[in-house]
Amino acid sequence: DKGNHRHFMAKEIYEQPETISHTLSHYLDMGAERVALRETLPFDFARLSRLTMSACGTAYFAGSIAKYWFEKLARLPVDIDVASEFRYREPPLQADGLSLFISQSGETADTLAALRYCAGQGQHVASLVNVRESTIARESQVVFPTLCGPEIGVASTKALTAQLSALASLALAAGVARGAIGPEAEAELVRALISLPSAVSKALKSEGQIVEIAKSLSKAKDVLYLGRGPMYPVAMEGALKLKEISYIHAEGYAAGELKHGPIALVDESMPVIVVAPSDPLMEKTLSNMQEVAARGGRIILITDEDGAAQAGHGIADIILIPKVSSFVAPILATIPVQLLAYHTAVFMGTDVDQPRNLAKSVTVE
Ligand code: F6R
Repeated sequence: DKGNHRHFMAKEIYEQPETISHTLSHYLDMGAERVALRETLPFDFARLSRLTMSACGTAYFAGSIAKYWFEKLARLPVDIDVASEFRYREPPLQADGLSLFISQSGETADTLAALRYCAGQGQHVASLVNVRESTIARESQVVFPTLCGPEIGVASTKALTAQLSALASLALAAGVARGAIGPEAEAELVRALISLPSAVSKALKSEGQIVEIAKSLSKAKDVLYLGRGPMYPVAMEGALKLKEISYIHAEGYAAGELKHGPIALVDESMPVIVVAPSDPLMEKTLSNMQEVAARGGRIILITDEDGAAQAGHGIADIILIPKVSSFVAPILATIPVQLLAYHTAVFMGTDVDQPRNLAKSVTVE
């Protein structure tokens, strides 16, 4: 049932304040402002040597964002790779390592193969899945759930923000267990997570403006997405979403890599979407953005009010998201990139919920 929405994807985008809140309530004790995992852990975060994550597609971008959290908040070394590469690399794994597999369906063939490899290597095996009864869940020592309900649209939206909510909580739990986060910092970070659903509701209100921008994107042949730090995987996710449902070629790039090649592509006909909420790295991203503006690139900036105030000239459009802590900002920043892809696809007239050549669950490699 799509409710009042034209597509499941739109319905699922709009469910996110609820699905994020539902997922967070599983991992947090909101009253006490503490992280509170319900699962019995077959390992001790304090003793882990390393975290190794594998996943595919959007779930891989969730892990790529989480890498920043685990490294920064828990001082835990992290590796992440797409499962189709990881499984054949057969990397050496350290004793006392945790392997974490992220999958909405829990049936993705490459992710399952990566899991079996890690289990065979004696790693602790955990998964983050949306389907409890799935194969990946069954073969894991501990299963962390995303509680976003069934996702019908082939393009993942609410599963991603649920994965991120769970991963942010797990990174916090790891940080507390490893002594990297004290009680005050924990309470502050938990409050940042608690404030997320209402910030997402506010971000969804920029839909009217996004429809206008999407109209112009639908005329583009290529679109570049730029981000730095945890906004880099958000940029890649934005590009993936646009490609898969609108069939417009898009690429996500680390903002600092621009001058190492892709800037050669920039001209008046190329929209460049810059994901840069205000944080300590924003200034760097803005200077990359100005390099694009100087070459006539059409810039669409996703930022908050502080970021907009510093952005300078030459920007075609600014999509404002609420100002939140830089911890949760990458989760919030996925909302406008979802809406941009969705509305661009609607203008293109594609089959948004069932894009050509794609399957919801990729059970063959
Ligand atoms: C993109 C998308 C895919 C999936 C990928 C992994 O919108 O939906 O990239 O994220 O196929 O699927 P799961 O999470 O089921 O392992």
